[in-house]
Amino acid sequence: MTSRLEPSVGVSAQVAPLIAPSILSADFAHLGRDIDAVSHADWIHVDVMDGHFVPNLSFGLPIAQAVARETQLPLDCHLMIDDPERWAPDYADFYSVTFHAEAVDDIDAAIALARTLRAAGTRAGISIKPKTPVDEVLAHLEEFDMVLVMSVEPGFGGQKFMPEVLTKVRALRQRADQIWGKETDDDSADGRCLIEIDGGISADTIASAAEAGVDVFVAGSAVYKADSPNTAIDELRENARAGYSPADRGSQHLAGHQR
Ligand code: DX5
Ligand code: ZN
Repeated sequence: MTSRLEPSVGVSAQVAPLIAPSILSADFAHLGRDIDAVSHADWIHVDVMDGHFVPNLSFGLPIAQAVARETQLPLDCHLMIDDPERWAPDYADFYSVTFHAEAVDDIDAAIALARTLRAAGTRAGISIKPKTPVDEVLAHLEEFDMVLVMSVEPGFGGQKFMPEVLTKVRALRQRADQIWGKETDDDSADGRCLIEIDGGISADTIASAAEAGVDVFVAGSAVYKADSPNTAIDELRENARAGYSPADRGSQHLAGHQR
């Protein structure tokens, strides 16, 4: 699978902020062209929706595999589906697989699925909808490689950013820095739990999310509605860096982001 990178070649060579365009906002009739158009991205975000867990249907494994054939970038699979225990392992050839906390019975089931995904060789992410508390995930952060905080109700691109979810991001940042330390010597994110945000991220909203401690920023319409997707990605990254601003360098979470 071309998108599958060995751990030593993945995020470790990169520097936060990571920008992950969502192909949900691409033109599916020209998917290859629209993947090529985001070559400045760090990851490609792949939104799988089943029409049950969310009131929208997007695409499944064959399309994700087609995307992987078109790019060398890591595929960041966001599964908005019921019964992830059944389906998520099929995505284990991709760089990361994120399922929803609301789609499994409880935190023990989430941990079990994360362990299955890790054992299958991918990174295990857990996502929480805007109204889902973060406490249980916080208490078991070591079990996950990423927490995806939804900043809109999942299902559709182009919705308005919900700033209130940043409270959860701050709590995650603080806990992650407690566990793994604020400083990192080797620039490697592997082994640390990354914090990702998804929904309504734009040039206007990204700095506030960065300031709260986000590592990975998903952006659909902000990238694909722009005249130049790569220019939009550059601008998002620049504004996120400004959110990790030098003035804040001594604060709770930011030292770990100066990598
Ligand atoms: C929404 C998806 C998002 C979506 C983001 O449920 O998970 O990834 O594509 O789109 P924007 O950036 O337009 O909010
Ligand atoms: Zn998504």
